Amino acid sequence: MNYQEAKAKLETLGQSHLLRWYDELGDMEQEALLSQIEALDPALLEVFKNYSSSGESVRGVIEPLGALTMEDIAENKEHFESAGLEAIRQGKVGAVLLAGGMGTRLGFDKPKGMFDIGVTHPLYIFECLIHNLMDVVDRAGTFVPLFIMTSEKNDEDTREFFEEQKYFGYNPEYVHFFVQDMAPAVDPSGQILLEEKGRIATSPNGNGGWFSSMVKAGYLGLLQREGIEWLNIFAVDNVLQRIADPCFIGATVLSGSESGAKVVAKADPQERVGVLCLEDGKPSIVEYYEMTDEMITRREPDGKLSYNYGVILNYLFRTDKLTEILNNSLPVHVVNKKVPYVDENGNLVKPTEPNAYKFETLVLDMIHLHESCLSYEVQRDYEFAPVKNPDGVDSVVTARELLKKNGVTI
Ligand code: UTP
Repeated sequence: MNYQEAKAKLETLGQSHLLRWYDELGDMEQEALLSQIEALDPALLEVFKNYSSSGESVRGVIEPLGALTMEDIAENKEHFESAGLEAIRQGKVGAVLLAGGMGTRLGFDKPKGMFDIGVTHPLYIFECLIHNLMDVVDRAGTFVPLFIMTSEKNDEDTREFFEEQKYFGYNPEYVHFFVQDMAPAVDPSGQILLEEKGRIATSPNGNGGWFSSMVKAGYLGLLQREGIEWLNIFAVDNVLQRIADPCFIGATVLSGSESGAKVVAKADPQERVGVLCLEDGKPSIVEYYEMTDEMITRREPDGKLSYNYGVILNYLFRTDKLTEILNNSLPVHVVNKKVPYVDENGNLVKPTEPNAYKFETLVLDMIHLHESCLSYEVQRDYEFAPVKNPDGVDSVVTARELLKKNGVTI
């Protein structure tokens, strides 16, 4: 895109300020800015307009969805595990680590997986995850292909770290990196922000685009060639994450469901967690802030909360279904965050409070594109220790306690 074309596009979008410093930029910076402008998706600005006028999305008819409980799972453990291990040995299972997030709440300026959660010795978050995956590798006697999604902002650091740490003993031939897409940030009036005079403020566009980014990176061929039928998607920040868990895989495969989600029973009705339920008869996740009081407190005849099962960002998807829904669009979520920006005088401002809006699609919305999802209950203290904050809830402090409880020397 040349300058004139960029100017015309921005005029139509009401974003001409992005070229304010154009004449001051060097050739390379000018070119980079023009390609950022070319890549700007006008649809996101429309999303923001609708968001600022209505503020919320419209949901269908929501109903509770139970789960395969821990008791059900214990009764069938051997059966499920042997089916899962068989699928892994046949090379039918891959794992996808979502590590493209910015981890702003943690306030660590490197990729979150590089955070050292150890106390008496270094213990990196990535190391915990690989260690957990090695349990399965040892049992199955084969490595599980591991795809790692990074973003433009942390790709180099992440790759270098894995190299430096010799992949924590994992076989590098089974590790495949890919980079997710970015989206611009806007101020409350919908004006796109610049993070430098010649650079639009962008951030990773959420974890919902992971499969399309994988395909863009050319991995569909590999999935098909290797016969990888299932992908286990998981978050970087849960240090107790069980990855490619044979029991979960076996239970999902044998259930005939199109997808599977690990869930934990809510700690209390008000817990701020997305709940797996049915929406218009299909599986779906309702965020805690979308639930009415009636939904929050409703109970089943056995006394359990009707909307009881919170998701922990550990899902199983079928590759063929993912390919089928590849071009289906996901809802775009608008989130209020702190975004450094260059003001109209050319000064860099580092806000201390959320000042801008980012656009994200979320992997949890993919569940609703499936006809069925096995809701698979796991024990919170053994499988869920998210590191979102430095202290308080879901923090370094709580995760350390849970690691200790699980016998990990920290
Ligand atoms: P979070 O929703 O906790 O976001 O990500 P975050 O960016 O890591 O942290 P905050 O909100 O800025 O503090 C849940 C999972 O999704 C991944 C994260 O790396 C984490 O594993 N993620 C998130 C991506 O891979 N890409 C994204 O754009 C956002």
